[in-house]
Amino acid sequence: MSLTGVVGAAVPVNVAAICGSLRKGSYNRGLLRAAVELSKGPVEGLQIEHVDIAALPMLNTDLEKEGRFPVEVEAFRNKILEADCFLFASPEYNFSVSAPMKNALDWASRPPNMWGGKAAAIVSAGGLLGGGRSQLHLRQIGIFLDLHFINKPEFFLNAFLPPPKFNPDTGDLIDEDAKLRLKEILLSLKAFTLQLQPRA
Ligand SMILES: Cc1cc2nc3c(=O)[nH]c(=O)nc-3n(C[C@H](O)[C@H](O)[C@H](O)COP(=O)(O)O)c2cc1C
Repeated sequence: MSLTGVVGAAVPVNVAAICGSLRKGSYNRGLLRAAVELSKGPVEGLQIEHVDIAALPMLNTDLEKEGRFPVEVEAFRNKILEADCFLFASPEYNFSVSAPMKNALDWASRPPNMWGGKAAAIVSAGGLLGGGRSQLHLRQIGIFLDLHFINKPEFFLNAFLPPPKFNPDTGDLIDEDAKLRLKEILLSLKAFTLQLQPRA
């Protein structure tokens, strides 16, 4: 019986979905909404929760008091701890990850590291290379965090090449081919998560 079949169906895999863009019409956020929609239908056994990083203060270790973190940071760290795996939507800012994304990664990396040992996948939408250079940097950061990224399939989406891939008003993904490719990412993330954390 395959891991993505009956074994994985009983207990859903909890996915924390993190978007590195804070803007309302974010295309990367649109990818995460599309992933949530897919998890309600074509991809069974995944429960995807968008974990908002907008309220996190800029990292400053002076804000840590006697092992306690600011309340928004504690809440974020708990979400990361509770998740089985992660789906990152990572816009490319100046050939790298965005500042909000790095900030979130850093906060949850403070001891004890909340990311360690878990599976992760990256998707991105953006300019010419669809945010691909941010993905490489995110993978590099993940080495120290002990994150385990799926390698394939890959998902990059040039958001600006016609025909339109996103609704310009809402940022919702409207490209059917991209939805199919996103589905493959979710299936791969689920399979790898169950490989790392086999269910009874
Ligand atoms: C500060 C900043 C730096 C950017 N740097 C790059 C870049 O290096 N390469 C690129 O392809 N796009 C770059 N962009 C464009 C964004 O990747 C693009 O606008 C993307 O759609 C942003 O993601 P979002 O739609 O989820 O907000 C940059 C945008 C900003 C705001």
